[in-house]
Amino acid sequence: MIESLQLKNRFKEVFGVEPQLLAKSPGRINIIGEHTDYNDGFVLPTAIDKAIYVAVSKREDNCIHLFAEDFNQGFETDLKDIKPSEVAWANYILGVVHQIQERGKIISGFSLYLDGDVPLGAGLSSSAAVECAVGFALNELFGLSFDRKDIARIGQLAEHTYAGVKCGIMDQFASVLSKKDHVIKLDCRSLDFEYVPLELGDYEIVLFNTNVKHSLASSAYNNRRELCERGVSWVGEKYPQVRSLRDVTLDMLDEIVRPKDEDTYVKCKYVIQENERLANACRALEKGNIEELGRQMFLAHRALSSEYEVSCDELDFLVDYVAQVPEVVGARMMGGGFGGCTINIIKKGYGDTLANQIAPQYKEKFGLELEVIFVNADEGARIIE
Ligand code: GLA
Repeated sequence: MIESLQLKNRFKEVFGVEPQLLAKSPGRINIIGEHTDYNDGFVLPTAIDKAIYVAVSKREDNCIHLFAEDFNQGFETDLKDIKPSEVAWANYILGVVHQIQERGKIISGFSLYLDGDVPLGAGLSSSAAVECAVGFALNELFGLSFDRKDIARIGQLAEHTYAGVKCGIMDQFASVLSKKDHVIKLDCRSLDFEYVPLELGDYEIVLFNTNVKHSLASSAYNNRRELCERGVSWVGEKYPQVRSLRDVTLDMLDEIVRPKDEDTYVKCKYVIQENERLANACRALEKGNIEELGRQMFLAHRALSSEYEVSCDELDFLVDYVAQVPEVVGARMMGGGFGGCTINIIKKGYGDTLANQIAPQYKEKFGLELEVIFVNADEGARIIE
C-alpha cells in the first residue's frame, strides 16, 4: 500500500503544487475463464490489494504534465495534440484522455503523478489499473459523469488504440467493479454480473510469478482473437444468428470449422469448453467444494497449454510441480499467458514452504527467480481523498 502522505509529498516535489485529488485502482486475479472475455463469454476475476495510485490537479492551461514514479520520468503534451507516444507508460494515460475526448467531454490541462505496488509484467493487469485509476480520477476531477462501466470501457479502448492489444473487458471491469472478499461472475456480452463470495475454507490463493515476460505476447494475443473471429465468421455463413463464440455449439464447430482448419477448430473449441469449466467451477465455489474448483483449474491449465497454446515452459513447470503436491488443490496460468503468474489454491499457510521448495529447482532449470505473491480479494477503484 502507498500512503496518501507520500503521494502528496511526491506530487508537490514534482509539480510544485498540492494535488486536488488522490485515487487508486487495483490489479486483478482471475480464478478461471481465460480468453473468454473477447468471445462474449464468462470470467471470474476480482481486484487485489495491490493498486495503481494517482494524484492529480487541474492546470490553468491546456497542457498535461505526467510523472511516473516507477520510471522516474516525466512527460508533457498539449490536449490539442493527443496521439500515441514513444514513451510506452504515457500511452495508457494518453489513450484514456483520447477516449474522454472521443466522447465529446471537455477537460482542461492537468498534472498527474503515478505510482503503484502492482508488480509490472506479472500478468496482474497493471496496465488496466493505470487506465482505470486515470479514468476514475479525471472523471471526478472534471465532473464527467461517467459510471463505473463507462470507465472500464474507456480503459479497454485505450488499450486497443494506444497500447495495440485487442483485449477484452475483464481486467478493467475487475479493476473498477470488484467487491472485497468476492469474485465477479461477469457475462462479458451483457456486462451483467453477480458477486460470488470467495470463501475457500482451509485454502488460500497464492501466486507464483515466473518472472517471464515474452515480447511476443501481444501479437500472439491478437492472433488468438483473430482465429476465434474467423471461426465465428465461418459458422455465421450458415447460421446467421451467430455473433460470437458464445452462440456457437461444439456441433457447429465439428460441422463447419473442423473441415476447414484444424487449428481454428481447436482454438474455438477451447473457448466453448472454458466457459463450461467456469460454470462448473462457479457451482463448486458456491457449494464450498474447493477440491472441485481446483480440479477445474487444472483442467483449464492443460487446455490453455496444449489447445489454446498460450502457456510457456516456465508456467507449465510450475503447474506440473504443484499438481503433485497434496496441499495444492488447483493451479493454472493466469491472464493472457506466455509468462506472468500461476494462480494456486493452497492449504492456508503452506505457500512460503512450497515456494522455498520449488524456487531452487526453478532457478536451476530456467535461470530465473521464483517470486511468491500473496493477494486478497479487494474492492475496485476509489477516491482516496
Ligand atoms: C488479458 C486481457 C484480458 C483477457 C485475458 C485472458 O489479461 O487483457 O482481456 O482476455 O488476457 O483471459
